[in-house]
Amino acid sequence: MKTQVVIVGAGPAGLLLAHLLKAEGVDCVVLERQSGPYVLSRIRAGVLEQITVSLMERLGLDARIKAEGLPHDGFNLADGERLIRIDIKALTGKQVMVYGQTELTRDLMDAAGPRGLHLIYEAGDVTLHDVESDAPFVTYTVEGAEQRMDARFIVGCDGFHGPSRQSIPASVARSFERVYPFGWLGILADVPPCNHELIYANHDRFALASQRSPVRSRYYIDVPTTERIEDWSDDRVWDELNIRLGPEAAAHITRGPSIEKSIAPLRSFVFEPMRHGSLLLCGDSAHIVPPTGAKGLNLAASDVHYASEALVAYFRKNDADAVVAYSDKALARVWKAERFSWSLTKLMHRFPDDGPFERRMQVAELDYIASSEAAQRSIAENYVGLPV
Ligand code: FAD
Ligand code: DHB
Repeated sequence: MKTQVVIVGAGPAGLLLAHLLKAEGVDCVVLERQSGPYVLSRIRAGVLEQITVSLMERLGLDARIKAEGLPHDGFNLADGERLIRIDIKALTGKQVMVYGQTELTRDLMDAAGPRGLHLIYEAGDVTLHDVESDAPFVTYTVEGAEQRMDARFIVGCDGFHGPSRQSIPASVARSFERVYPFGWLGILADVPPCNHELIYANHDRFALASQRSPVRSRYYIDVPTTERIEDWSDDRVWDELNIRLGPEAAAHITRGPSIEKSIAPLRSFVFEPMRHGSLLLCGDSAHIVPPTGAKGLNLAASDVHYASEALVAYFRKNDADAVVAYSDKALARVWKAERFSWSLTKLMHRFPDDGPFERRMQVAELDYIASSEAAQRSIAENYVGLPV
């Protein structure tokens, strides 16, 4: 079979790209290793930047976001004693939208059939071939039978562990990585949130109070990477949240049984270039941010925005330069989001080697943020998302 663009991976990046290309008349096929329900079972991001919402708007797929999403005008940093509110609306004129990645993915999946998208789930052994040529192709299996899909371009939207990035030879690539000595233990529960806005707390140890709706809460604490989820009963997580979120928030925590509980490792990672020959990379396949600052999904959305513009320019106007420019354009925004996520991670977590000096530096920085509108503006500008 032949198409114009093969997209590997049907996470948010792959699905969003498929919709944007289809809307512009570019043919594509999406190959996903997992089943649809499995993709929807992964609980991840919860905060959307305006760029992500506006892409959904452009596709006319924003009805549920508008109806069920929670627009937030601010969020809080907590130092154990007080809440430092970052009024993102007043400081930037923008809001963020609290809306689960699962729901965004569901909206994109539900619209795929009606809009004639070609998605192939449970595609095995996806392998990329001839990516340096103008006629790359992908082989894969469906129910054990080998298939081949030819294309003009392949876009790797297959996350950190997918095969696309590995198809770029080491001789032309560079990667940059920091692995953090802790992960985030997340808990989802059908209880009202403890606060109407998010709280990122560093009361000696990290905690995040987030939400999915007025009756569904999402909380995180950091734990050493050696911890096993089996050792964290719900009560143990709630006890820890009580301590770490500080007395003001803790007073309003409603406990309840977890409906999901997992540990995600934290990593900063950037792979350059994000295009090689006829292969483009988008989202987690090219870069990972630690979740502090909620940038991962939003970066995937901005990559997809740049990639779709480049591919549409290629197929409409034969503009090959647009495709060549993709990597530099995307990376400029990626590195700024990496910087923000890394700096917020350093500010809000205790590293194993940190001593009293490092702790005092964190306290001093939080105190500075509390007293400086300039510092708050810088955080707000990054949190709502830098311009594309
Ligand atoms: P993925 O979602 O990883 O999708 C990749 C897809 O490719 C998957 O469906 C996978 O099955 C498929 N695939 C993999 N290998 C193959 C293969 N061999 N063949 C075919 N298909 C394959 N980001 C935010 O912006 N805001 C947040 O609030 C936020 N919070 C987070 C909280 C947690 C706990 C975690 C873990 C992440 C969070 N993120 C957040 C990050 C965000 O979830 C990711 O950045 C986002 O999922 C990236 O989307 P993607 O489509 O690039 O990759
Ligand atoms: C959520 C995740 C994040 O990484 C973050 O910074 C804020 C909220 C969430 O899952 O709700």
